[in-house]
Amino acid sequence: MISIHGYAIVCRHGRIADATGAFPPALMNEADWAYFQAELDRADLCVLGSASHRATPNRANRRRLVMSRGAAGLEQREDAWWWAPQEVAFDEVCARLLPAGGRIGVPGGQVAFDYFLHESPPGLRFSEFHLSRATRAAIPDGRGLLRGVEAGRDTDALLREGGLRPGATRVIDADAGVDLTVYVAHPR
Ligand SMILES: NC(=O)c1ccc[n+]([C@@H]2O[C@H](COP(=O)([O-])OP(=O)(O)OC[C@H]3O[C@@H](n4cnc5c(N)ncnc54)[C@H](OP(=O)(O)O)[C@@H]3O)[C@@H](O)[C@H]2O)c1
Repeated sequence: MISIHGYAIVCRHGRIADATGAFPPALMNEADWAYFQAELDRADLCVLGSASHRATPNRANRRRLVMSRGAAGLEQREDAWWWAPQEVAFDEVCARLLPAGGRIGVPGGQVAFDYFLHESPPGLRFSEFHLSRATRAAIPDGRGLLRGVEAGRDTDALLREGGLRPGATRVIDADAGVDLTVYVAHPR
């Protein structure tokens, strides 16, 4: 049994990074960070796009799988497993890296979010998506959570189209205006 959990903090325009691809201070929040790190500690494998991998040193020494068109299929490098989804199907990746099943954490970025929302094999898509919103942060021209956000689509609508349904929203930092909604896969 494999479960797949996505994590992101977005501004009120659904953006995860600024227009240069850098993580902006406006999205840094301690309550979100503590939640995110505790959740990743529960993961048997973390899947990241290559830009996110480069942007975030693996200080906790978690087991990483990096998505990159430059990977030779599925290959183990010194810093992580590297994977080209065009070359190796994700069920094959799971069979090799998680033969007994397990929990997968997906901290992004956009490439990984789009993949597990609507491109990975059915049955290997998000079980849950943990979406934090920094409601006061504005990055209108930044990197979207999903490709569709940059095309003007609404984040909530895109997650619903991916088969996810939102649970209750709870405020995790009232002073900073940050809340958290966990979207859960809806039986298709
Ligand atoms: N706010 C948040 O919650 C959050 C979450 C995650 C990341 N971030 C921030 O966002 C920034 C990075 O995110 P990002 O969305 O720009 O990049 P990303 O998704 O992490 O990585 C993009 C890279 O993935 C590779 N790629 C693209 N298409 C691919 C495909 N079809 N198959 C396999 N690999 C593919 C490309 O690199 P190759 O040339 O190697 O193929 C591309 O440059 C960082 O600043 C990070 O800190 C924020």
